[in-house]
This record gives sequence, C-alpha cells and structure tokens, in this order.
Amino acid sequence: MRLPAAALRPLKGRPLKAKIIAHMHQAAGPVSGERLSKVLGVSRVAIWKHMRQLQTVGYAIETTPKGYRLVKEPDAPFPWVFGPRESQMHYHQELPSTMDSAMELARKGSPAFTVVVAERQTKGRGRLQRQWQSTQGGLYFTMVLRPRIPLAEAPLINLAAAVDLAATITHLYEIPVQLKWPNDLLVEGRKLAGILSQMAAEPDRIDFINLGIGVNVHNDTRRVKPPAVSVAALTDRTVSRARILEGFWDRLEQRLTGGSLAGVVDQWKGRAVTLGKTVTVQTLNDQVTGLAVDVAPDGALVLETADGRRVTVLYGDCFHPQV
Ligand code: BTN
Repeated sequence: MRLPAAALRPLKGRPLKAKIIAHMHQAAGPVSGERLSKVLGVSRVAIWKHMRQLQTVGYAIETTPKGYRLVKEPDAPFPWVFGPRESQMHYHQELPSTMDSAMELARKGSPAFTVVVAERQTKGRGRLQRQWQSTQGGLYFTMVLRPRIPLAEAPLINLAAAVDLAATITHLYEIPVQLKWPNDLLVEGRKLAGILSQMAAEPDRIDFINLGIGVNVHNDTRRVKPPAVSVAALTDRTVSRARILEGFWDRLEQRLTGGSLAGVVDQWKGRAVTLGKTVTVQTLNDQVTGLAVDVAPDGALVLETADGRRVTVLYGDCFHPQV
C-alpha cells in the first residue's frame, strides 16, 4: 500500500519505532516490510527487528502475507511515543524508585526535563518517608528540573507541578481535580496523584529539583490507604498514561521556559480544597492545627490557630478532618 508523501512529512525527525507505528496506523491494510524499509530508509532486517521488539513489549502486530498490521497498542510510556523527547526518557519495567535513578542522572549533569519512568517500583516513596504503592498500571516518574529562579521560590515549583498535572487530567478526561496543600491531587477527597520533590542547591542558586510524580491511572486503588481513586475509574474515555505525562510535560515546560512562576499561587487557589477548612499540618518533627486561611506568595500555608495566632508552614503534610 502506498502512503501519500504529505502523510509522511510530520514523521520527520521522529524515532524509528514511532515512524513504523505511524505508518501502520495510517495504512488501511497491512504494510509490507519492503515498503517500510524503502520509505524509512532502513534495511528490511531493521524493520523486522523493530517489529519483534514492539511485539515483545506488548504491541499486537499481525504478520500477514501482505505485511504487518497493527491490531492493538499497549498503554505504556515508551520513549518512542514521546517523539523528539525520546532521548530524554529513561524507561524501566521496574525500579526500586525513580527518585534514586533520577538523582544519579541529575548529579551527573543530565539536562532539564530528563525523565525516569518505571512501570512498577519496589520501594516507591511518598512524602514524610511514607511508602507509595507502585503496582502495574500507575504512572510513576521523576522529572529533573533546573529552574533559574531564586531559591526562595523553589516551593512554587511544587505548586506549579500540582496545577499543571491537575489541568492536564481535567483537560484530557474532564475530571474535576482538586488540590490539597501542598500538592496532592484529589477527587472528592480521594487521592488521585501525589508529588514528592528533592532539591540540590548552592546558597545562591538551584542546581536541580527532581519532581517525583505518582498518578493512579489503571492500577487498583481499592486497598490503598488513605482512600485513593484512579483516572480510569473516573472516566469512560480510553486513558493513556503517555498522554498524561506528555500533557503535563508540555504545560510545565512552557511555564518554566517562560521563566515565570507568576500567577501560580492564584491558579493553585482556584483548585484548592484546603482553604477555609480546619486542618492539621504534620511536619517531620511537629504538627500544627488551625483554620487554613491563605497560601502566601512563597507557597506557604497560612493557618489561624485556636488562640488567634497566624502561623505559616512551608513544608509538611496536611490532614483535612472534613474531607
Ligand atoms: C506523596 O503524595 O506522598 C508523594 C508520592 C510520590 C510518588 C512518586 S511515584 C514516582 C516517584 N518515585 C517515588 O519513589 N516516589 C515518587
């Protein structure tokens, strides 16, 4: 089957596997290895090898006398799905934690927007030294950021990530995602996603911030405590982990290369479920209870305690008795 030249142009510069998949998508019937090797300028053996690799990782590709036919694609954040960003993606079937691998890469100087993603984590970590259950079907990744912002603005990166992830999921699946300070994504009080960050800095500049993000997507959350929910359980649409990651990446990269975090606190407040509630904030060594009245320009939560004091908390985990 001949493919029109116009249909092929957008594939320029994309990874070979992505091109092979796109060709099979565009074709009305099977595409021969000979045809693919000609259009893509590689040997038939190379095409055959890539087909085998795609089949091994879960692509249902039928081999017919007339050529290859793509029957079904798995929903996985494979590097080639991310087009020109392929080289920034480090994909693993299983890791102890994407935080550790990303830390190693960041320390070795890997560029901003390097991403480590794993299908499963055996030692997934949450904030305040909790575990993060990381079974198959969820989206687990850490993104290396190198923002050129003053050190004091670092907490705003977490708020920005929460806002951008919430906006992505709302945009793709029409799910009304709310935010619990500092950066939990909730739907009707159940946890949809969490964010953990690690930073390395000099006194006057940030070296890197690693954002670790776990999103419940297809994974079973029925036994997770506190109560959690998955994207797939909240929509009838076909859910794609790659599209969630890509959408988030687009938004955050645009925000950070724009160089400004202006407006992020207001955007965060627009989705906040914390404000107006009496909450308890747990830090590593302490806890404080009060009415959450505001988020300060630096991202700190402002609490009014029962004895009338105003306390600001910059780091911790927040418990909402009423949620
Ligand atoms: C939290 O809500 O407590 C934060 C959860 C963060 C989980 C993610 S999953 C990917 C990355 N790797 C980890 O070990 N943790 C983060």
